[in-house]
Amino acid sequence: MTTLHAGLEKLLASNGHGKQAGAVWLVGAGPGDVDLLTVKALRLIEQAEVVVCDRLVSPEILALIPASALSIDVGKTPGFHGMKQSQINQLLVELAAAGQQVIRLKGGDPFIFGRGGEEMTAVQEAGLVCHIVPGITAATGCAAATGIPLTHRDLAQSVRFITGHGKDGKPQLDWESLKDARQTLVFYMGLTWCGALSEQLIAFGRDAETPVAIVERGTRADQRVTLTTLHQLAETVLREKPQSPALLIVGEVVRLYRKKELTECASLRLQTV
Ligand SMILES: C[S@@+](CC[C@H](N)C(=O)[O-])C[C@H]1O[C@@H](n2cnc3c(N)ncnc32)[C@H](O)[C@@H]1O
Repeated sequence: MTTLHAGLEKLLASNGHGKQAGAVWLVGAGPGDVDLLTVKALRLIEQAEVVVCDRLVSPEILALIPASALSIDVGKTPGFHGMKQSQINQLLVELAAAGQQVIRLKGGDPFIFGRGGEEMTAVQEAGLVCHIVPGITAATGCAAATGIPLTHRDLAQSVRFITGHGKDGKPQLDWESLKDARQTLVFYMGLTWCGALSEQLIAFGRDAETPVAIVERGTRADQRVTLTTLHQLAETVLREKPQSPALLIVGEVVRLYRKKELTECASLRLQTV
C-alpha cells in the first residue's frame, strides 16, 4: 500500500483534472467473516484506488484491498478516537472533490450504528454523490453464527437493535418499551453499561432469569460465546472479561443456541477467498 501522506497529497492535488467526477461509496464490510461480504462490496474493494476504513473491518477483508491502493485507517477504538467524525467527513469530501471514487469501508452495515447517515449527508451537502452498499450487520451475523434466531414464532415476535452508547456516552433508553418478554433485544456497544442495562430491564419487568448471550468477534474464526442471565450479566462480564467487538443478545431465543453443529459448520467454511 502507498504511504499515507505521500499518497494522500498526490490524490488531493489531482483536483479532479482529467478524471471522472468523484463519489463516495459507503460500503458495509459485514461482521468479519470474509465470505459474508456482498458481491458488490467485494467488486468495489478489489477495484479500489483509495479506501478509508474503520477499526471494525477484519484483517481478512483488509487483505483484499489492492496493494496499489491508498488505504487510510480512521479507526476509533473504545476510549480512543482516531480521527474525529467531522475530520472523517471532511476527508471523504476532499477526496471525492479531487475526483476520486472513495471506498468508505465500514464494519457491518453503514446505516446501523455506523454513522453512515452523517457521512452521507456531509458528502451530499458538498454537492457530491454518495452510494450506499449494505452489509450484514453484527446482529444478524452473530445470530447466524450462534444459531440464535432473533425472531421465532413461539418465542419472540419482534427484535430491537439498540445501542448501549448514547450521544453523551450513557444509554438513554425508553425502558418501558423494552419489557416485553417476546421481544429480542440486541445491544451493540453494551458491554460498558451492562450492569445498568440489566438492572433497568429487570426493574421494568424483564424476568431476571432471561437468558443472555455475549457474542465476541461474531462470525470470525476466534468467535467466543458466553451464556448468562440478566441478573448475572454484570458478574459474568467481570469474570469473563469479554473484548470488543461484542454484542449482547437478550431474550428467550438465546435458549436455542447451538454450539456443536455450528462448530462443525464453521469447519465447512468456504476456502475460496
Ligand atoms: C459502532 S458499532 C458498528 C455496528 C456496525 N455498523 C454493524 O452494522 O454491525 C460497533 C459495535 O458493533 C458490534 N459488533 C460489530 N462487529 C461485531 C462482531 N463481529 N461481533 C460482535 N459484535 C460486533 C459491537 O457491539 C461493536 O461495539
